[in-house]
Amino acid sequence: MSLDHLISIRDLDYREALLLLDTAEQMAATQFRRVKKLPTLHGRTVVNLFFEDSTRTRLSFEAAAKRLSADVINFSAKGSSVSKGESLKDTALTLQAMGADAVIVRHSSSGAAHRLAHAGWMDLPVLNAGDGTHQHPTQALLDAMTLRRHFHRDPTDPEVEPLAPGTDLAGARVVIVGDVLHSRVARSNVDLLTLLGASVTLVAPPTLLPVGVETWNCEVEYDFDRALAQEPDAVMMLRVQRERMSAAGGGFFPSPGEYHLAYGLDRQRFDALGPDTIIMHPGPMNRGLEISAEAADSPRSVVVEQVANGVSVRMAALYLLLAPEGNPRD
Ligand code: NCD
Repeated sequence: MSLDHLISIRDLDYREALLLLDTAEQMAATQFRRVKKLPTLHGRTVVNLFFEDSTRTRLSFEAAAKRLSADVINFSAKGSSVSKGESLKDTALTLQAMGADAVIVRHSSSGAAHRLAHAGWMDLPVLNAGDGTHQHPTQALLDAMTLRRHFHRDPTDPEVEPLAPGTDLAGARVVIVGDVLHSRVARSNVDLLTLLGASVTLVAPPTLLPVGVETWNCEVEYDFDRALAQEPDAVMMLRVQRERMSAAGGGFFPSPGEYHLAYGLDRQRFDALGPDTIIMHPGPMNRGLEISAEAADSPRSVVVEQVANGVSVRMAALYLLLAPEGNPRD
C-alpha cells in the first residue's frame, strides 16, 4: 500500500480500500486460533493519543496493536500536560523523542490528525481515530467489513466459504439516520461505501444536516419512513451527539420525545423492516432516543460484530502501515 498515514477515506482508492478489507479478513481468520497473537510488530511501539473520550475505538486499537505484538503507550489528555496547555506540537515532539513508531490520534478539532501527520513536527505514520466532525476512517472500514460479510453471505453459517478477496459492495443499499451534522462516522461511510459501489441515503432533520450535504455522493431524505420503504440492506443509526450540541447552544430539535418519534428506530419501524435488513450503530448508543432497546438487542442488530470487526480492521491498518512485508516502502 502506498499510504504513509490513514487520515481520511478520501485518501484511499478502490484498490487500497479493498486491500484493507481483505487484509482485515485475513486478520479475522487468525482470531479463532488458541494463540491470537502474531509476531508482526514485535519491538515496535504504538502510541494511542486520545484528546477526546473513547471506549471502543481506544480499546480496539490497543487490542489490535497488542495482537500484532507491538508495545502500546496510552495517552489521554485528561491528567496529562495537555490540561496544563501543552500544544499538539510539543506533544508530537515528545512522542518522536520517546521512540514511538506510529501514532493513533483522536481529537475534537477537524484536521488535527492531518496536522500531526504533515506539519513536520514528527516523521511517524498517523492513524486517525476520529477528528472533530471530519473523518473516522477505521470506523467506516469496520462498517464496510460488516456490510460486506452480510451482503454477500450469512456470517452465522459456519459452512460458508470465506469471502472472495476483492468483493465490493456494488448493489448494496444503506440508510444512515440521525445526527449527520456532528458525525465523522456518516461522512467517512458515505465516502467509503460509495467508493465500494453501495448507494447511501442520509436521513435527518434539516437542522442536523451539514451545509453542502447536497454535494456529497448520496441521497438526502427528511422522512425516515420513506427511506425505509426502499427496503435497504442496512440501517445505520447515528448517536445524537448531545455534547457537541450543548457546546453549540442546543436547539437542534424540539425535544428528545419528538426526535424519537420522527427519527428513532422504534418498535413500529423495527417490526416493519425487511427480513434481511441489518441494524448498525457505531456506539455508544442512546437507547430510547435514536434506537429502541428491541432494535438494539435484536438478532438483526450487528453492533457486537461491528466491534469485533473493528479489531481486525485496525490490525490490518497497523500491519499495512508498519510491517515491513505489509508496506513496500520499508
Ligand atoms: C463514534 C465517534 O466517536 O465518532 N463512535 C465510535 O468511534 N465508536 C460515534 C459517536 O461518538 O457517536
